[in-house]
Amino acid sequence: MYPLEDGQLFPRNQWWVAAQSGEVGRTLLARTLLEEELVFYRKANGEPVALAGRCPHRLFPLVNGKLMGDDVACGYHGFVFGGDGRCVHIPTQDKVPTSMRVRQYPVAEHMGWVWVWMGDPTLADPALLPRPACAGPGWLFWHGITTHIKARYTLLLDNLFDLTHVAYVHASVFNFPEGEDPPGFDAPLSLRVEGDHLFAARPLCGVPYDDYATLQFGPGQGTMDLDSPSDYHGPALIVTGTVHRLHDEKAGSLAIMHPDGQRGGALRVFHGVTPETRSSTHYFSAFSRDYRLDDEAFSQQFAQIDRGIRQEDIDALEAIEPAAARATTAQEQSGLQDAAGIRVRRMLSQQIARETAVLRPGGQPRP
Ligand code: FES
Ligand SMILES: [Fe+2]
Repeated sequence: MYPLEDGQLFPRNQWWVAAQSGEVGRTLLARTLLEEELVFYRKANGEPVALAGRCPHRLFPLVNGKLMGDDVACGYHGFVFGGDGRCVHIPTQDKVPTSMRVRQYPVAEHMGWVWVWMGDPTLADPALLPRPACAGPGWLFWHGITTHIKARYTLLLDNLFDLTHVAYVHASVFNFPEGEDPPGFDAPLSLRVEGDHLFAARPLCGVPYDDYATLQFGPGQGTMDLDSPSDYHGPALIVTGTVHRLHDEKAGSLAIMHPDGQRGGALRVFHGVTPETRSSTHYFSAFSRDYRLDDEAFSQQFAQIDRGIRQEDIDALEAIEPAAARATTAQEQSGLQDAAGIRVRRMLSQQIARETAVLRPGGQPRP
């Protein structure tokens, strides 16, 4: 599948974000992930549960059934399934065959999200959950929204690893000078690979103090130096962000400075990226910052602006998807700015190939 190798869709043996923690509760939630229908809920003790979304009897959607204690009763003929997926009751018979069950998926709760393991359950290990830096003491972590994109997840990965698009897609927020190449965009891109992670960054020097900086640090003067990393923690979690510094302390000022006195502050934007189908994606947002820690109104305001930014990206990706459905990588042309995105594509493709290599025909893992 473009832009991966022929036949490659998505890796399964990894954690994917399924929902914000607040979306999973004591009512059934249906969600399609990696082209499989699932149903989510919480047991009375708060533990999240993920089961296959279709009743194994006659394929009725379990979301149209009822939660009874910690079990789900199918809304068609009343079969009842426990949180482990086993059928515990069939209304017309005393005995329930042990083979009567729905698939149960391993779940974990982390970063305010419910994560699910869609592959071989024996490999599901909470230690494999991505644990990006920039949370913890001195940082405020807060949540944004769950959105949906009618485009394949790899287009979003491309987007997040070529941030030159901000000058064009998000021109209303970042207001770079019109009619000129954005300042600093010709700076070299640095790439660092650590295992399955990739850290890309293009530090921008001497960019104008724009509306985005004003939103974060109040009115300011002069020009800024800006770190804007894109960190790949596998395809499920990308972390972007900014660190704003005065380009020339003598010639500039900011209303709000970080206590370290060296910069305005550091902001991290978390992008939970989960394929729904081969041509659609769930998109989850969260943030952290190390300044204005007690300013709830700013958290809300920033999340609102971010929502608009994401919608601009969604509109762009949905405009690309119809052509992506017919495309091959041989038909596209790349520039220097694509080094990070192409590296990410290759890492993802290799991850899928490694999984395929350890699977026997029929999908069972080799012993
Ligand atoms: S389809 Fe679920 S009980 Fe028959
Ligand atoms: Fe964007």
